[in-house]
Amino acid sequence: MIFSFTKTDRMYIAHCKEGGEWQSGVMQDFQNLSMSPAAGVLNYGQGLFEGMKAQRAADGSIVLFRPECNARRMQDGARRLGVPVVPEEMFLDAIHQTVSENSRWVPPMGKGALYVRPLLMGSGEVLGVAPAPEYTFVVYGAPVGPYFKGGLKPISLKISDEFHRAAPGGSGGVKAIGNYAPGMVPSREAKRLGFAEIIYLDAVHHRYVEEVGAANFFCVKDGVVSTPELTGTILPGVTRASVIEIARDMGHEVREEKVDVSYALSADECFCAGTAAVIASIGSIQHGDRAVEYCDGQVGPVTRRIHDTLTAIQQRRIPDERGWTVAVE
Ligand code: PLP
Ligand code: COI
Repeated sequence: MIFSFTKTDRMYIAHCKEGGEWQSGVMQDFQNLSMSPAAGVLNYGQGLFEGMKAQRAADGSIVLFRPECNARRMQDGARRLGVPVVPEEMFLDAIHQTVSENSRWVPPMGKGALYVRPLLMGSGEVLGVAPAPEYTFVVYGAPVGPYFKGGLKPISLKISDEFHRAAPGGSGGVKAIGNYAPGMVPSREAKRLGFAEIIYLDAVHHRYVEEVGAANFFCVKDGVVSTPELTGTILPGVTRASVIEIARDMGHEVREEKVDVSYALSADECFCAGTAAVIASIGSIQHGDRAVEYCDGQVGPVTRRIHDTLTAIQQRRIPDERGWTVAVE
């Protein structure tokens, strides 16, 4: 199974007028949305999304991983884009209903997940550049495999010297839909050259690693785990936050700091982390004419331990001491 769209049975939908309250949402059969061509999201990109996974756990249950973190991140994004905030309880209820009514699509343990995609958008008509008068919140799901082919298998990445993902004061720190289209051409070009994705550098100094297309970046040097600090231009990943805690519990020093590209290139191991990507080991990085290989192109030992621990917690194969997993009835 790969990371691609498959239509499932049911979806959640709710509406809200600007300045009003969210009406209670309903579950309906999966279907197209009907929207005016003047909808705010279509004209000005006033929209946000989230991404989370429902997985089959060792005890047979279906579990979500820290869904409240996604609820809060979508709220931060809504405040940034002038969208009515979806209350956490409503968000979680929508996720639970969507997973529950599509439970036949959750793959067996270890064989993939039901990727759950909440979407929040300005669906009302607006012609001047302004927040839309009406909003729609939708949740649907699709069964998926890993984002990068081969899962943990090391991938090759290319540092972009030409493109940036986000700039200070922009929307890089929230999951705005508009953050993604500008990455498509750079990413397609990197794939044409045989790389799995792009690594973006910061837009000001052009020397600090920011993130990898749709996942956060980590490197390990002399046992110290480093990841770019959250400066507003990097998406605060739920997986990133979890990896930081797991690595600290394993006894690693973990630094959230500016990661200079030369430091990353001199690291012992690099990996990226995200809901879709899980933990993907980075086998090599190309920067200009320079190519660096890590661990002879093999999965590094720290990367492997973090991957194994994270996925074991997510599938309840080891005790979930932090209460990160939530069962769906
Ligand atoms: N960075 C970007 C740009 C992303 O789109 C994602 C995916 O959500 C991540 C990082 C990883 O975040 P998370 O671990 O919450 O999925
Ligand atoms: C996720 O990890 O959930 C993402 O958002 C990646 C995605 C853009 C496919």
